Parts: sequence; structure tokens; C-alpha cells
Amino acid sequence: MSASDDREAVVMTSAPVAMGELLSLSGISKSYGGVTALVDGSFDVRPGEIHALLGENGAGKSTLVKILVGAHHRDSGTIRWRGDPVEIRSFADAERLGIRLVYQKLNVIDDLTVARNLILGRERSRAGIIDLAEGRRRAASSLAALGIDLDLDARAGSLRVAEKQLLEIARALSGEVHLLIMDEPTASLGDQEVGRLLALVRRLRDQGMAIVFITHKLEEVFDVCDRVTVLRDGRTVGSKMVAETDADDLIAMMVGRRFGHRIDKQPRSTDRVVLEVDSLCADSGITDVSFSAHEGEVLGIYGLLGSGRTELIRALFGADPIGSGNVVVNGRPARFRSPRDARDRGLGLVPEDRASGVFEYLSVAKNLTVSSDDILAPRGWVRQGESKRLAQRMSDTLRIRAKSVEVPIWQLSGGNQQKALIGRWLARDSPILLMDDPTSGIDVGAKEEFYRIIDDLTTRGTTVIMTSSELPELLAVSDRLIVLREGRIAGILDRSMMSQERVLQLAMTDLADGDPRRTVRTPDAADPDSRGVTVSAGNEEADEG
Ligand SMILES: Nc1ncnc2c1ncn2[C@@H]1O[C@H](COP(=O)(O)OP(=O)(O)OP(=O)(O)O)[C@@H](O)[C@H]1O
Ligand SMILES: [Mg+2]
Repeated sequence: MSASDDREAVVMTSAPVAMGELLSLSGISKSYGGVTALVDGSFDVRPGEIHALLGENGAGKSTLVKILVGAHHRDSGTIRWRGDPVEIRSFADAERLGIRLVYQKLNVIDDLTVARNLILGRERSRAGIIDLAEGRRRAASSLAALGIDLDLDARAGSLRVAEKQLLEIARALSGEVHLLIMDEPTASLGDQEVGRLLALVRRLRDQGMAIVFITHKLEEVFDVCDRVTVLRDGRTVGSKMVAETDADDLIAMMVGRRFGHRIDKQPRSTDRVVLEVDSLCADSGITDVSFSAHEGEVLGIYGLLGSGRTELIRALFGADPIGSGNVVVNGRPARFRSPRDARDRGLGLVPEDRASGVFEYLSVAKNLTVSSDDILAPRGWVRQGESKRLAQRMSDTLRIRAKSVEVPIWQLSGGNQQKALIGRWLARDSPILLMDDPTSGIDVGAKEEFYRIIDDLTTRGTTVIMTSSELPELLAVSDRLIVLREGRIAGILDRSMMSQERVLQLAMTDLADGDPRRTVRTPDAADPDSRGVTVSAGNEEADEG
């Protein structure tokens, strides 16, 4: 294979237009039936820049970028490409210009292999026969060129969310790409995976590619982006150089007001133990895990990719089989064979994999109440009025942005669908609520709202056990924090003992120096170029937990 084959996926742009705009949008509007998604979307993108697109859930970000790839059509406004007005009516039009979008929602086909997914729609055939071996070679070289390590023959369904994300990016980067748009690519990624993704994004930028980067994580804006544009209620509020703005400024632009986004955590935990886990082992990779959780407590779970945090949550909920060990709920032994068993004993789960949780063609109301039928209908008859009231209450509590709770949920923005999934379990009032990275994809204002909801729940005695891919968030909301490492508990920290350094030490102590998982981003590092920091080898303090 020649060197140029190897480079297939590292897509070079032709000579950048000097200082000129690659793309500029002005006055873009778009309504869906009665719903106005965009009123005046305007911004421009220059070659070789990473341009952040920010805004609250439902602000119109995804709509705007879908218009750029021909997935939706604008009602009015102008799109210019290298200065000339263009019409982008289809994916093919966008492809020809060199525009690619990595969607907010993953589009991986689980039943196909990684290799097939990568060449999907671009298979080459000879005499009507698709040459799979050739496709596999192409897939291999595109992954290699991007430095992405995935098993080409693995079924895509067996990949982790983070890996599917990389697969999507690799797929988008085929052919000649001048503008890569990524719609919340980091929403489901942990710190170290985010670090790797951002490194890739920087590399592409340095080759001259323009990148539009949608995110709800402000630290990423300061980490990699050059400019930022903020949308609010379908209008562009403004664009700024990242170096000339700060988080408070951006939040104010997003929500139209300033607020103190500090969390003032109050302990709500009582002495009553509601959940005891003793020497839990599961084939999914959980070894000898023991801990207890109290009424009203927020118990955080942190761990790097592969540490078993999702696996632990799933095992507790009866979603994966438990090998050995004991679980006691409210003093009574529990052996959950299915999520239903867990639910009947008062556990609820907001899962990591949102896609499988949303029933796209059902209404927002039904999505909110679908797990509460047994409560609403003790005798098998669901009282519609009551069901509707419950849905409306949840929608109000979470400020779900929808025309009404009767619209099908696929019409909602990604973050608002996410809120509905959280609402489904809040609706049940489960005394023990397990949540796997619940805030990924929800905006800064909604996050603050969510912390308030957690505080309300714990005040009423609910126990919350949650993971997060954002360590600062866990440090802020947890009474205690379980740190997992390779499926085992590396330490359990009381609030007074929690710090970023200590948690990371515990999470990484056993990893060998060369292990890529040792490279993590520290969100507070001042120097934007020093974000991929290698944390020094473990020290004795780590044993204290
Ligand atoms: N196909 C559709 N039909 C009806 N309404 C839609 C459709 N797609 C989006 N909307 C509405 O348009 C508005 C903007 O949605 P959009 O998905 O662009 O938001 P977003 O900024 O990407 O939000 P998020 O951060 O939650 O992803 C929302 O009110 C949404 O409900
Ligand atoms: Mg979106």
C-alpha cells in the first residue's frame, strides 16, 4: 500500500482562502410546522479555525447545522461558500462542497462490522460485486491515519459509546473535507476520551480544516476553540474570539442573564442504610465491590473508561447478571434477575445509552410516564387524566421545551429528549435512583436546575447514585465518592477528602506509564496547551481511601 493510501482519511483542504470566509450564513430561519427553530441564524466560519456553536437546549444549533448538510431546508436567509451564494439541497450537495456533519445522535449500524460501517454508502464494486476486502483495507487505512484503534471485524453493536463516536468521525472524514461539523461529539465521552478527541480535532484544524464544534461543556470551548457563536431562541446573539471572552460572559449570552453557577451542596444524608452491596462480582467486569448507601445521600461513582462504572450501575439494577455477592435493599436481601425486579424494589435507572431509552414515535407525555403505568394503574387501568397531569408536571419541573407534551418526542432537541428520560424516572419517585451520566447533553442552565432537583429529591429521602463523565460535577454534588479502577473499588472518599488530584490518583494508580488512559485533561489547567496532562505515578496517599 502506498503512502498516499495511508493518508486517505487525513483530509487535506486545498490552499485556504487567505483570511476569507469559507462559509457565511445570514438570517437563516426555519420552522417545523408551528415550531420556530431558527429566526435569524447567522455566523461565519474561516478555514483553519475551530468555531464553537453554543446555546441552550432547543436554541437551534442542530437545526442550523442540519441545514448546512442539506438534511433540512431553510425557510429564508443566505448561505455563502467562499463568498458565493450556494444552495445545499441534499447530502450530495454538501459532500461536493466538502462539508460533513457528525450527528448528535449516533448513526452506527449495530449489526454490521466496524469495517462495513466505515465504508457504508461508499462500497466499491466490480462487475456488480462489492469488494469487501478492498473496503476493509480502506477502512483500516482511514482508522490508522486518524490514529483510531478499533477492531475492524468487531460488530459495531459491541462498541462502547465512545468508540462508536470515533467510528462516526472516521466515517465523516472520507473524501475531501473542508468543513467538519461536530454536534456534541463529547457528550457521552469520559475525560480521557475527550482528550483524545480534542487532540484529533486540533490536528485537523492545523491541517487547515475548518471545524464547527457544538458542545455544552464550556471548558472545551476554552480548551480548543478559536471563536465562538452563541444562539438563543433561534437567533444569533453574537460571535467572539474565545481569547476575548469568559465563561460568565458566554453563559449570560446563552441564557440572557447572569447567574452564579456555583453549587451550594447541603448534606441531606441520614444514618439509615438503604442499600448494602457486599463483595459483588459480575462477569461484565465487576470484582469484589462493597459499599453502602444512605437515605438522602448522593453517592457519586467515578472511574476512567473501562473502570466499570456503567457495569456497576447495570449490575445493581439487574440489567446485567450478578456472579456472586450480596445486595440488600432496605434490610431485605435482593436478587434482581431483571430491571423489573429492581424497579419493584424501588430502584430507578437513568441509563447511559439514551438512544435505546427514547421511544421516538411516542409522545413526550408517553415517554415520561411509560415506566409509571403500574403506579398510575394499580388495577391495570391507566387513568388518562392522571397520566397526563404527571407528564405535564415532569415536563414543567424539567423545563422541557416542546410545543406540548403531546408531540412525538423525536421532534424535540437532543437535550430536551434527555430531560424526558430523566423525567421518566423522576416520575416514579423511586427511593433509590441510579443515574449513569445524567447531565451529558443538557445545557448549563438545565444542569443547574438538575442539581436543584437532586437536592429536592434527597431532602425528601431519595438516595441518588450517579456517575458523571465530568469530575468537577461529581465533586460538587456528591456526599461521598466511590472511585473505581479496573472493576474494583480503589477508594471511597468522604466529601471532606474529595479533590480532583486525589480522585485521579485513585482512578489511575495501577495504570502503567504508557497506558493511554493515564492521559487526562484537568479542567482547571490555566494553559490551554497543557490540557493533556500526564498525572504522576501513584503515591502512598492513594491508600487512604
Ligand atoms: N423535526 C422537527 N420537528 C419539529 N420541531 C423540531 C424538529 N427539529 C427540531 N425541532 C424544534 O426546533 C427547536 C430547535 O431544536 P434543535 O434541535 O435545533 O436545538 P439544539 O440547539 O440543537 O438543542 P440541544 O442542545 O438540546 O441539542 C426545538 O424547539 C425543537 O423542538
Ligand atoms: Mg442539538
